[in-house]
Amino acid sequence: MSDIVLNGKLIAFEGIDTSGKTTQARRLVTRLRESGYSVVSTVEPGGTVIGEAARAIVLSKPGEHSALLPFSELLLFMISRAQNTYEVIRPALQAGMTVVVSRYRMSSEAYQGYGRGIDLEFIQSLNEHATDGLRPDVTFLIDISAETAVQRKTTEHDRIEIEAVDFHRRVRQGFLELVAADPHAVVIDGDRTPDEIAKDVARHLQL
Ligand code: TYD
Repeated sequence: MSDIVLNGKLIAFEGIDTSGKTTQARRLVTRLRESGYSVVSTVEPGGTVIGEAARAIVLSKPGEHSALLPFSELLLFMISRAQNTYEVIRPALQAGMTVVVSRYRMSSEAYQGYGRGIDLEFIQSLNEHATDGLRPDVTFLIDISAETAVQRKTTEHDRIEIEAVDFHRRVRQGFLELVAADPHAVVIDGDRTPDEIAKDVARHLQL
């Protein structure tokens, strides 16, 4: 095992849609297990029964829940986060496991703050309550341009993915600003092969 001890640590992956963060989160889980760690992996929104119910609304097909207000969308992400933190993440960390989460607090700040224009301090305050103050020990931002994201898009779109390229540009810019202000977060260039990116992530964790 490496010098950095990852037992009881929370590692988060962030990035705009199609950045490849889910692939990288999966690859890191495999790598950690090979290194002897007990790992729990989870996603947001989702991860719990209540979180999945919130996910079904916020990531519904365009037009299905067109009445959903940005404020209500924000709260649904917070419901998912509160449940996931309380039911899955905290217990695993307390048991000394390493937790890998695909999206956490920073996603709400980037998407609902920079993307939808909701007050950032308000979101940060909700995040603090939803997580009971829990912050990732390491956050990896898998960074790609909004233009690359649009090119990578497949045919299946949910109500957030169909937002215009300007929205995704604001979200990406938000992520970069949030990472710059967070000493526990690093930017990983996502415009490379999955192998190269995975190596970069592992190097940061001294795996
Ligand atoms: P994503 O994590 O990419 O999951 P999948 O790969 O299964 O589609 O999708 C989640 C979407 O929800 C993505 O568009 C970002 C958005 N999102 C927010 O807007 N705010 C949040 O707080 C979270 C967690 C996600």
